[in-house]
Amino acid sequence: MNLKPSIWADRLAPSPTLEIKSIADTLKQKGKKVYDFGVGEMNPEIKLPSIVKTVMSEAIISDMTHYSPAAGDPELLSAISNDLHRFDLTHTPSQIVVCPGPKDAFFKTCLAIIGQSSSRNRLVAFSPIYESYQNIPVLLTGQPPILLPTTRHFLPDVERLEDLLKQDQTIALIVLNSPNNPSGAVYPLSLIQDIAAIIEKYPEVGVISDEVYRTIIYDNHRHHSIAAYLPDQTFVLGGMSKEISGTGLRLGFVAGPETILQTIARVEGNTSSCVNLPAQKGYAQFLQQDTNLKLRYDIRDQLRKRRDILIQNFHQLVKCATWKTPLGAYYFFPNMQGYLGKKTTTGNIIQNDQDLALYLLKTANVVTIPGSKFDRSGHLRLAYAINPITIEIGIQQMAKALDQLQ
Ligand SMILES: Cc1ncc(COP(=O)(O)O)c(C=O)c1O
Repeated sequence: MNLKPSIWADRLAPSPTLEIKSIADTLKQKGKKVYDFGVGEMNPEIKLPSIVKTVMSEAIISDMTHYSPAAGDPELLSAISNDLHRFDLTHTPSQIVVCPGPKDAFFKTCLAIIGQSSSRNRLVAFSPIYESYQNIPVLLTGQPPILLPTTRHFLPDVERLEDLLKQDQTIALIVLNSPNNPSGAVYPLSLIQDIAAIIEKYPEVGVISDEVYRTIIYDNHRHHSIAAYLPDQTFVLGGMSKEISGTGLRLGFVAGPETILQTIARVEGNTSSCVNLPAQKGYAQFLQQDTNLKLRYDIRDQLRKRRDILIQNFHQLVKCATWKTPLGAYYFFPNMQGYLGKKTTTGNIIQNDQDLALYLLKTANVVTIPGSKFDRSGHLRLAYAINPITIEIGIQQMAKALDQLQ
């Protein structure tokens, strides 16, 4: 065969979380008890709200399986617009496009803005970084994102951002993500205002504000969107995946300035045609019912309970780690450098976080994701939207395996 993949597509790294999910699934199929802190989803532990299931089933039975307008079903666009108002945003339905998942919304937003022919074609993100922000710019331009550091609380380093924007005229987009995957950090309002004040000086630069975890924030912290301060430059991402346990339903959205949203709608129409209509109907009904966010806050409370169990067990049992308590999303991202350089009982040295994750998988059936997959070596990411007992026993197993290292 002489067919070759394109150079840019060929440079794409596989999604590390989905790769690890397939290893965990293989172990489970072999009948092993696996403590799976790998993939970031709530299902099967916390399920899709029943109203969504009912509406989706009814939509299928009543043959709502045809195309919707490319930008989305008008009922859903209006429900998302009303819901965004609950987060102090004022997008109208014509400023919203529904896509097959938040990742796809990110991809299409980037595609609509950055390209080979534009002089501004680089994307900036903060490290540690969610995998798609690393890979999608490579697919679109052949170049990885420019990575900027975060503070020790995993918050964007504002000065470095300002310096970069002053010097570099190739920047097209800056990605913000609060609540954050993988760190669980939540950006405070003052930080968002500081970032907005800087980016405002560069009207040709856009912001993608990934807010897929906007309702999962703990300990009386609040979600703030930079779109409230920078409406003409910001693209807000959201969707069913993380908010209501609908990862496999593939429904995300992007909301932002209307002219570019119309371009994104054309991209959507030419690539996916539209998102499956039953899921759109289900999310629309959900948003129309959850006007006070109660259903979503119930989910958040279940996740907070799991976060507390995880931290408590980790604190008691895992001796050589340090961490920042996550304030949102459902990830824990401890620094495990204290275990690097140690020897296993079979004499192998744990050189790095990838060795550590593999060691925990092999000796304790504990699935974690190495921090280096998020550009932060020495850490592990633990997704904790899982059964509380699995969390407890999983951390015990993990601690036992870690204690055996010398
Ligand atoms: C911050 C963030 N944005 C976007 C996504 C993409 O969600 P999906 O894969 O459902 O499109 C994820 C998934 O883990 C995420 O963590």
